[in-house]
Amino acid sequence: MRIVIAGGHGKIALRLERLLAARGDSPVALIRNPDHIDDVRAAGAEPAVIDLEAATVTELTEKVMGADAVVFAAGAGPGSGELRKDTVDRAAAKLLADAASLAGVRRYLMVSAIGVDAGPGPDAEPVWAAYVRAKKAADDDLRDRSLELDWTILRPGRLTDDPGTGSVRLAPEVPRGAVSRDDVAAVLVALLDSPASTGRVLELVGGDTPIAEAVAAACAE
Ligand SMILES: NC(=O)c1ccc[n+]([C@@H]2O[C@H](COP(=O)([O-])OP(=O)(O)OC[C@H]3O[C@@H](n4cnc5c(N)ncnc54)[C@H](OP(=O)(O)O)[C@@H]3O)[C@@H](O)[C@H]2O)c1
Repeated sequence: MRIVIAGGHGKIALRLERLLAARGDSPVALIRNPDHIDDVRAAGAEPAVIDLEAATVTELTEKVMGADAVVFAAGAGPGSGELRKDTVDRAAAKLLADAASLAGVRRYLMVSAIGVDAGPGPDAEPVWAAYVRAKKAADDDLRDRSLELDWTILRPGRLTDDPGTGSVRLAPEVPRGAVSRDDVAAVLVALLDSPASTGRVLELVGGDTPIAEAVAAACAE
């Protein structure tokens, strides 16, 4: 499968690219910084340089054309302000959905974040509040596209760089917790393999259920 990954030099994305390449899939890493070309190639991905905050939908559609699925794993990241939460975490995710739709690529996996439907608390710090609003808006946009896209929204808890355990807790709602980026990437692969995950919003934290079993159970309910 040819999988186009937005935010292709991100920490989850590089792990996902390695897993996909190792099993013979063809990941394509969308990156904005040409200095990252060697890194994504080393992960087994084909690099495609595009800035998701500057690109037109036509430019992004060209990159997505011919893919079997797209994954949104980009993010403005720590240290960014309110404006970039909107331009990356919301607008770039929406642009990817527009491009996938135009390219006829139905499958869209979103890396969201746990608990965003509740919105920011009344005392939330402004940049955090902007992030939560942006992630929820991106998810809402995707949820409205069921006629054009086969979407799945994955909402991990706090991300760590701990080694993956291969076991998780995955359900529409789970108690807050942490999860390793290794395990998030492995769950994304399992979701790509699971058409029954279409139309589902799933929260993810560390747990005791092997990933294949956790995905099968979450998609059977
Ligand atoms: N941190 C947490 O605890 C947590 C919890 C739940 C969910 N999440 C979500 O998970 C996502 C992925 O996590 P991660 O650790 O893999 O993130 P990450 O390492 O920060 O990766 C985000 C990637 O997005 C790219 N990006 C930013 N702006 C871009 C643009 N304009 N055009 C193209 N690419 C752009 C960055 O590229 P550059 O290197 O060029 O900046 C970076 O490679 C986060 O962004 C967040 O929304 C995070």
